[in-house]
Amino acid sequence: MLPKLLRRMKKYMNSENVKQQILEFLWQAKDTPVSGVKLSSLLNISRVAIWKHIQALKESGIDIQSGPKGYTLSNPDDLLMPFCFKKEYKEKIFHFQQLESTMDEARRLAKADASHLSVVIAEHQTLGRGRLNRKWFSSKGGLWFTLILKPGPLPPPLAYIYNFAASLSLSTSLKELFNADVSVKWPNDLLLNGKKLSGLLSEMETRGDMVEFINIGIGINVNNCPEKDEPRAISLKTALGKEVSRKLILEHFLDTFERQTRNIDCSQIINQWKKQTSTIGTHVRIETLGEMHEGLAVDVEDSGALIIETGNGETRKIIYGDCFHR
Ligand code: BTN
Repeated sequence: MLPKLLRRMKKYMNSENVKQQILEFLWQAKDTPVSGVKLSSLLNISRVAIWKHIQALKESGIDIQSGPKGYTLSNPDDLLMPFCFKKEYKEKIFHFQQLESTMDEARRLAKADASHLSVVIAEHQTLGRGRLNRKWFSSKGGLWFTLILKPGPLPPPLAYIYNFAASLSLSTSLKELFNADVSVKWPNDLLLNGKKLSGLLSEMETRGDMVEFINIGIGINVNNCPEKDEPRAISLKTALGKEVSRKLILEHFLDTFERQTRNIDCSQIINQWKKQTSTIGTHVRIETLGEMHEGLAVDVEDSGALIIETGNGETRKIIYGDCFHR
């Protein structure tokens, strides 16, 4: 019984491995078609086996074109497989066609032995979640991932700074890559043309009195059309009028975030964040789980708290909540 099960597992692993290799060959060839004959000789398997693997890849959601000269990937620059990334990230990328939520898989991997700056990506999430227990629509074309952070000895009250560093790094990356007029909205959303482009959700685990890991889930509307489900949302594709590479965004973001957090300095990160925010100077409504606050946002403290002035001249310090610009 056991050898039979082992044989079946080995066959499955082999088949997954072959599919990865086929994808890698197609990705390396970029726009040049790769024939079934060529793939069959490269991998030393029959053309029928190649055809079956290609069908399975297509069925799993990968866009492969079949033509008279062979197979091509429809959009090789957008592929998010580990082999597409530079050397230092290859081992850290965990890519899935579909997950309920990258947050759950990231928690499982963080509890196992995933290293600092590992990334769990899903092309599609069936139960994507947002802040304050909201559903997060995650259709194909968006960039949905969770970043696993194991920052070394860190007291839990200081974990917030990684969320600010993440939204700051993402905003900086999108400005640098696309010259996009992105701003950060307190606490950690990204806005483009006044609409929601991206949201961040973080979860943390402590051991004793120190942080064991922080998982930051990031959803970016890239080549999807979020407006259908959420009128106050926008994608880069809609704003820029063209599709852009999710791999380029993710790699640039990881570089920026790694640099930003190498020697973390809370005051410096908050100061830079404040230069990119559209919240300060705006009339806001903040919803927490049980309360609502309204007023003019006047500052964000080094602790990450938002300071608002209410109509009657009172100043309030808000430490969490969902913020709406009026
Ligand atoms: C929010 O603005 O409410 C936060 C949204 C966070 C969405 C991302 S998508 C990747 C990760 N997986 C999830 O289920 N949620 C986060």
